[in-house]
Amino acid sequence: MTDHKPKIAFFQCHWCLYAPEDQEWVDRRLPDNIRLIKVPCTGRIDPLFVLNAVQGGAEGVVISGCLPEKCHYKEGNLAARRQLQEFSSFMDYIGYDEARLRFVWLDLQDRGRIQRELADFENQLQQLGSAEALAARQPLEEGGAHE
Ligand code: FES
Repeated sequence: MTDHKPKIAFFQCHWCLYAPEDQEWVDRRLPDNIRLIKVPCTGRIDPLFVLNAVQGGAEGVVISGCLPEKCHYKEGNLAARRQLQEFSSFMDYIGYDEARLRFVWLDLQDRGRIQRELADFENQLQQLGSAEALAARQPLEEGGAHE
């Protein structure tokens, strides 16, 4: 096991019903390797946000949303899950293992679960090893395609 703390982008739906102590932990005491991005609904997460996080160095992405029947925008979370699963297959195809993307649906009774999910995900990422940074790949030369 390595001591490397993988960088994690953590998208959290603003309406997610976290227990107050869990939300306080998320808002004030997240470990340094986890970057919080709040969104109005998981349905508002454009796959390009995820790609941007990966290009910025995220070795894993967690998306936390409301339970399916509790999404404030009816089925925003279900649509997001479908869309982002397809996107994660694409990411896997280009070399970013789809095990690096995790969905978590939470409700008030899931006290302490977000901490457990993040710790478990971090452990999974450590076992996967470091991700080849997509951002580190050679960009196309300016002005067009390679010859
Ligand atoms: Fe929370 Fe849609 S409002 S996932």
